[in-house]
Amino acid sequence: MNACGQTKIERMSAPKSASTVATGTPAAALPVDLNQLERLAQPAMSPMAWDYVRGGAADEITLRENRAAYDRIRLKPRVLCDVSRIDTAAVLLSQPLACPILLAPAAYHRLYHPDGEIATVTGAARMGAGAVISSFATVAIEDIVRSAASARPWFQLYVNPDRRFTQQLVERVENAGCAAICLTVDTPVLGCRYRERDFKLPAGIECPNVAAIAGEAVAAHRPVRERIYSAVFDSSLSWRDIAWLRSVTRLPIVLKGILNPDDAARALDAGVDAIIVSNHGGRNLDTVPATIEVLPLVAERVSGKIPVLVDGGIRRGTDILKALALGARAVLIGRPYLYGLALAGADGVAHVIDVLRAEFEMAMALAGRTTLQAIDRTVLWE
Ligand SMILES: Cc1cc2nc3c(=O)[nH]c(=O)nc-3n(C[C@H](O)[C@H](O)[C@H](O)COP(=O)(O)O)c2cc1C
Repeated sequence: MNACGQTKIERMSAPKSASTVATGTPAAALPVDLNQLERLAQPAMSPMAWDYVRGGAADEITLRENRAAYDRIRLKPRVLCDVSRIDTAAVLLSQPLACPILLAPAAYHRLYHPDGEIATVTGAARMGAGAVISSFATVAIEDIVRSAASARPWFQLYVNPDRRFTQQLVERVENAGCAAICLTVDTPVLGCRYRERDFKLPAGIECPNVAAIAGEAVAAHRPVRERIYSAVFDSSLSWRDIAWLRSVTRLPIVLKGILNPDDAARALDAGVDAIIVSNHGGRNLDTVPATIEVLPLVAERVSGKIPVLVDGGIRRGTDILKALALGARAVLIGRPYLYGLALAGADGVAHVIDVLRAEFEMAMALAGRTTLQAIDRTVLWE
């Protein structure tokens, strides 16, 4: 036991440093400040891809708030705690993670780097982080899972109005070796994303896991004036469908996109295995609160019965500390790893995770906490 009542645990072995890649920016040359990394990524992406990644819904109030809300939270450190050993190891749905970080599902990775999702899962696996693969991945799920070696990614599912289509997709990802189904529940229709008005996939970039509906998926980004529904997202999806999904897969089911604590309670009743507090990175319903503001309300309702995860606006190690203090078991990051991917492929993804993990360890040490279990509300200045 140390001075703060925490048990010393061996530090995980340090990850291998990222090396130079054949194309793009050498990973060693990437800035460790993720804000700078974002600025560097813009010229590495087409203006259309940049707008697609960077943007949010409507006036982007929630997008900005996701970030600003973290900045308003103040930490309350303890000193003289013997922080000579920090342990960030976590277990999530029986999967070991070197740190409580997962890559959030994001569509179309080959838009940012020719290796697409292969690079993403390679970078994540190298750092011991989790990865959630979008329904709109640009590489076949079997190839993605193979590249992740023993680190089994989760698959993010959009339920299609054609249930047979969805069932076959679920069977395919289960056979491929994915570890969980992450059902996105906050997108019965897309948000008003005005920056996506001109979105289209360049020739040669396809969505092989949902090939039959990929054209519809891209069309769904077009202006709200034309329509709000698309054949890609089943807008009739309801709680009944969770039981249906359970009946067609043995995989754990994670609901992504819970904000309302009442929905968290419904999710518990529905028997899901975990939930992700998410507002889709501010891309769907503008003016909903920042996820870090609703996280404690959701966590309180769930009261530890299943893991609660959070995403949206996480850009610093201190953000991860704050999220865990407010009840998250782990966090997901979105845009930052896409910037790393655009700049340096797998090495860029690994770099972003490495930076966040190192910042998180620094934040833990400076706050006087050496294990994830020791992170609770007392680390916040309330
Ligand atoms: C370019 C982009 C594409 C995304 N595509 C998906 C997707 O296909 N499915 C999904 O559930 N969420 C998607 N998201 C939302 C992310 O999973 C995540 O909720 C969000 O990016 C987290 O916020 P952050 O980017 O501020 O970290 C996407 C986000 C971005 C930025």
